[in-house]
Amino acid sequence: MPLNVHIIGAGSYLPERVLTNHDIESMLDTTDEWIVARTGISQRHIVGKDQHTSDLAVWAARHALDDAGLKITDIDVILVATTTPDMIFPSTASIVQYKLGGEGFPTWDIQAVCSGFVYALAQMDGMMRAGMFRRALVIGAESMSRILDWNDRSTCVLFGDGAGAVVLEAREEEGGIIGSVIHSDGAHRHLLMAHHPHPGASPADDPLDFHVDSAGVAAVEMRGNEVFRMAVGKLGELVEEITGKHGIEQSEIDWLVPHQANFRIIQATAKKLKMPMDRVALTVSKHANTSAASVPLALDDLYREGKLKTGDLLLFEAFGAGFVWGANLVRWSRAC
Ligand code: COA
Repeated sequence: MPLNVHIIGAGSYLPERVLTNHDIESMLDTTDEWIVARTGISQRHIVGKDQHTSDLAVWAARHALDDAGLKITDIDVILVATTTPDMIFPSTASIVQYKLGGEGFPTWDIQAVCSGFVYALAQMDGMMRAGMFRRALVIGAESMSRILDWNDRSTCVLFGDGAGAVVLEAREEEGGIIGSVIHSDGAHRHLLMAHHPHPGASPADDPLDFHVDSAGVAAVEMRGNEVFRMAVGKLGELVEEITGKHGIEQSEIDWLVPHQANFRIIQATAKKLKMPMDRVALTVSKHANTSAASVPLALDDLYREGKLKTGDLLLFEAFGAGFVWGANLVRWSRAC
């Protein structure tokens, strides 16, 4: 019997500190009105001193394991999608394995920036269908605040920190991840980037103290307008591609779970799908753009609110630097 890869648990974690637009008004020449009107963002969570990306990932993983009724010893592999690893090496996934008390099984990170979680699900789906692993922890985790220039109002207002996780299980029953499409085009790499060394601020520091001059490194740089146009265009093509590939009518999709970069980008994709906004997972106003963590955070938010029913058809989509973009179609296997 062919195997299908099901989401059997979900969880997330946000650092305690909340930075509102009004807080940023006192740091920079910006306003709550400007940020809300252009992006839909009202606040973001920010890691504290001594808080690492792996710490966020560990809490999200614990919540997802609890939700699945499993322990770390039941897991065969950990994949962490992150663009803000604790250090260049070892991988954040190895550190997460250690902090969760696991050992022996394989772990690695995947770097596809804001599309990292969608890429990770696509990769793990293929490997698990082929019989390599039975149960996996797939985590998206970021401390974006550590690679921002907190003097640059055009970028620092856009991002936040957090983590989301799912537990996957390969089973013979129908459902789960139906399929994925992933793409990349490095010709646009200069439109959105962060230079080495990485990460920009040491986890021992408070990220809000970090800016380009003091750290001597370049932080996130972006040509926002061009990124915006490309994101809307590519995400529109993507929804056509994934539904066409799997013979699904767009009207069959119950929930859109998009990357949470900007409310207007999400709205454009929902419009393309003719989906009302009350069928769209929306966390951008409270989480901002948490890069690889944003799709699993939005998924967990929807799940915790009790909105997902067993058998619902979900579309995950994301777009990020590179550019890289991708989507997964998922039949929800969990009960409410
Ligand atoms: N507060 C107040 N003014 C700001 C500001 C802020 N936080 N950031 C930028 N501005 C100013 C600019 O300096 C510019 O001023 P000028 O006209 O005097 O030069 C003006 O606002 C317009 O800037 P512009 O970049 O054209 O605005 P925009 O409408 O494109 O909105 C973004 C900017 C970043 C919100 C928007 O381009 C965007 O969301 N892009 C996509 C970003 C994204 O999703 N990235 C991640 C993809 S994974």
